[in-house]
Amino acid sequence: MLVFLALCGGGLFATGFARSGYLTRQGWPVDQPVPFSHKHHVGDLGLDCRYCHADVERGRYAGLPASHVCMTCHSQLWTGAAILAPVRASFAQDKPLAWTRVSALPGYVYFDHHIHISRGVACVECHGRVDRMPLAWRAKPFQMRFCIGCHRDPAPRLRPPDQVTRMDWSAWDRDPANRGYGRRAMAAFHIQPAKLTDCDTCHR
Ligand code: HEC
Ligand code: HEC
Ligand code: HEC
Ligand code: HEC
Ligand code: HEC
Repeated sequence: MLVFLALCGGGLFATGFARSGYLTRQGWPVDQPVPFSHKHHVGDLGLDCRYCHADVERGRYAGLPASHVCMTCHSQLWTGAAILAPVRASFAQDKPLAWTRVSALPGYVYFDHHIHISRGVACVECHGRVDRMPLAWRAKPFQMRFCIGCHRDPAPRLRPPDQVTRMDWSAWDRDPANRGYGRRAMAAFHIQPAKLTDCDTCHR
């Protein structure tokens, strides 16, 4: 009996643990070589994601900015700041900064930004309100059920592709012409949820 209880308890603990933010790393700010703030640069200054993640529309990876992108402004702004010393050194030595990854998937999962962006799946769906993050963290669990949850029925979460980097877009409070947009986009792009949940869509 005692052994049985111990096993049950262990099982419950393991399940709770697997779903907690600890294992999925959801909601945990990550230490970086430079405390880069999306809240300042996106939320306050209004920079578009593509200014720094230039490959997101074209390729599998969004990419991280090279230091010369930061130096466009920081060769004039905060030029002596100690906090930016690693950026200046990286630029001078032409060596990329070693950013700590926030949202990496295991190698056996295939993912592609371009297809999502071109169909109108917004950054905020998978990365949350980046414009409110003083340090980046993982906003969604990135477990299989998260991906499949949308793949079963993407319609309500599609928007016009030119709006994907907007953090506050909503189909309801703007142009009434956007209502029902998702259903129309499903037809226009020939999106078939039945195929999107096949194992080999994501495990190739
Ligand atoms: C001024 C440049 C800049 C802009 C603009 C910018 N980012 Fe970033 N982003 C960075 C840098 C630098 C990092 C790496 C450091 C970090 O994780 O905070 C990063 C990291 C990220 C990460 C974590 C990637 C990972 O897996 O490690 C996500 C997600 C992200 N950005 C999304 C966005 C989105 C969405 C937008 C637009 C709403 C945006 N960024 C705008 C510079 C920028
Ligand atoms: C378009 C101009 C611009 C670009 C590009 C830019 N910054 Fe900034 N950055 C600013 C401004 C303006 C401030 C001052 C913000 C404030 O004090 O409110 C700032 C402040 C900072 C700070 C001080 C802390 C903070 O957030 O206030 C850090 C660190 C920083 N930037 C890092 C970076 C890095 C790393 C990059 C490249 C990935 C980058 N910046 C690209 C304009 C820029
Ligand atoms: C459908 C979900 C989804 C959408 C939409 C999405 N991302 Fe991502 N993003 C991911 C996943 C998953 C990863 C991790 C990929 C990996 O490890 O292979 C990632 C990684 C990143 C990274 C780290 C560098 C890289 O390319 O691996 C950045 C930066 C990023 N995303 C920015 C963006 C921006 C900007 C947008 C909107 C223009 C966006 N993402 C839209 C899911 C998404
Ligand atoms: C908010 C909705 C949404 C989320 C979340 C989402 N996807 Fe998608 N995904 C889509 C849509 C829409 C398409 C495009 C389907 C099409 O055009 O046929 C797509 C397409 C794909 C494709 C390409 C299939 C092909 O035909 O090449 C892959 C791979 C993929 N997603 C993997 C993932 C993974 C892995 C995750 C989780 C990390 C994820 N997706 C999360 C909506 C989403
Ligand atoms: C839309 C994308 C997507 C589809 C479709 C998908 N998977 Fe996954 N799968 C993932 C992601 C993302 C992970 C990584 C989970 C993690 O890191 O926690 C994963 C992880 C797994 C794992 C590792 C163990 C686990 O559960 O974490 C197995 C096994 C697996 N998938 C099997 C399947 C099978 C079988 C199918 C078809 C019925 C399938 N997957 C369909 C995205 C997908």
